[in-house]
Amino acid sequence: MTYQLITVRTEADKVGIITLNRPKQLNALNGDLMDELGAALKSFDADEKIGCMVITGSEKAFAAGADIGAMATYTFSDVYKGDYITRNWETIRSIRKPVIAAVSGFALGGGCELAMMCDFIIAADNARFGQPEIKLGIIPGAGGTQRLPRAVGKAKAMDLALTGRMMDATEAERAGLVSRVVPLDKLMDEVLGAALMICDYGQPSVMAAKESINRAFESGLSDGIMFERRLFHALFATADQKEGMDAFVNKRKANFTNR
Ligand code: HXC
Repeated sequence: MTYQLITVRTEADKVGIITLNRPKQLNALNGDLMDELGAALKSFDADEKIGCMVITGSEKAFAAGADIGAMATYTFSDVYKGDYITRNWETIRSIRKPVIAAVSGFALGGGCELAMMCDFIIAADNARFGQPEIKLGIIPGAGGTQRLPRAVGKAKAMDLALTGRMMDATEAERAGLVSRVVPLDKLMDEVLGAALMICDYGQPSVMAAKESINRAFESGLSDGIMFERRLFHALFATADQKEGMDAFVNKRKANFTNR
């Protein structure tokens, strides 16, 4: 498939890398771009060779939000009947392999929300996060009012969503929104290092870890722990569990087969 608004490549045949590619609009996210992003994610997710995905943007912008020019004339019936956001932005929620957001520059509005839909965020030191929708007379609409407080707590989420201010990478790491901050010129090395490390583990355990952590946001503690316990038990049926433990016991490197 050819894409117009993203570019797609692989690293070492294992990592699927998707680069948002509307640089003149600071990667503002319109419907066509989100269609392409969803298609690329689904295609990598279905590819047996791919173990991890990365979404990134340009140095200046991961994404400066949903496309304001496109949204400006939308009516209620347009967005309601067209299932705006749900129709294509939510595709990422069905992706079962890990997705890392590599964020440099602006991650604002829907851009911040897209980063938060990824499994974790590694940020360059020039990254700036915010939910400035309030300045446009709207509120975050792709999960920002839900994922941001889960990540950074109520106080900071309210502060960001109600004032529309940006926070820098240091503040975002301190608040728990991003897992690591690195110098801009090291961003992709750091992200690919993490992605390749994940690819070397067994896919069943990687997918189970992702599924189980995501369950923490959907359930109470007892149900979440039971969900984890059952997946933990199930992994004893995999060849990768036998391989991983045998490799440790025999002091050799594990060679996982994703089975
Ligand atoms: C459409 C955008 C855009 C956006 C930037 N551009 N952000 N176009 N939608 N979200 C365009 C500008 O219009 C401009 O086009 C070009 O990108 C460069 O932007 P500048 O403003 O000239 O750059 P700069 O002065 O460096 O300022 C950068 C910026 C600013 C601070 C990020 O662009 C900005 O505030 N953008 C809007 C951020 C925002 O409000 N995001 C939330 C959107 S609402 P021209 O043609 O003039 O060169 C949202 C709702 C989510 O995301 C709901 C669910 C998804």
